[in-house]
Amino acid sequence: MRIDIITCLPKLLESPFNQSILHRAQTKGLVEVKIHDLRDYAINKHQQVDDYAYGVGAGMVLMIEPLDKCISNLQKERDYDEIIFMTPDGETFDQRSANTLSLMKNIIIICGHYKGIDERVREHFVTKEISIGDYVLSGGELAAAVVSDAIIRLVPGVLSDETSALTDSFQDGLLAPPVYSRPADYKGMKVPDVLLSGNDAKIEEWRLEKAMERTKQRRPDLYKKLFPDKKD
Ligand code: ADE
Repeated sequence: MRIDIITCLPKLLESPFNQSILHRAQTKGLVEVKIHDLRDYAINKHQQVDDYAYGVGAGMVLMIEPLDKCISNLQKERDYDEIIFMTPDGETFDQRSANTLSLMKNIIIICGHYKGIDERVREHFVTKEISIGDYVLSGGELAAAVVSDAIIRLVPGVLSDETSALTDSFQDGLLAPPVYSRPADYKGMKVPDVLLSGNDAKIEEWRLEKAMERTKQRRPDLYKKLFPDKKD
């Protein structure tokens, strides 16, 4: 899979892709992430990529021309499954969207800034608009990193334990159950006996019970969706 991210603040995106799982996914050749500096497509030698919004006065808007040039340049090389714009008024990102996007071959992610991007880019180039939650960030970069992380860890081969993505919170619609590690007894705080029993079936039953309990307590909205008829 290949992800092309278009930004006017490329430095903001360096670190997240150069650490841990995201870095390993790239060195293993499973994912290619390319960051494009929008200023390389600026309209003049002053590196201008933004301008005042018509009719509003205050607030800068990313212009259509640099974005068109950058996107068209990328499209000359390959077909893209989605051209995504990160924006607080997009559809809210969730695990289901991450699963869908992880199956794609090539995607572009555009990071907005200031007051946003020229609406014509959204109308004519963008195929999907994503928000990572109901709050406003100063730009789309951190949101793009969040979305990329959630997608990349689902690409087959990225996680060393193939099953671990399957047992994540939300992957089956439930929150993940609690986990414990050594020692079994720390200053009187004990690991539940069942986890030390070696009985795989009993352990699975316990994990499902805890996942359901946790989901019901912390996310009654999800629980209701999964078990609409359950009374207790
Ligand atoms: N850009 C600014 N705020 C954002 C958000 N909540 N989600 C996605 N992109 C954004």
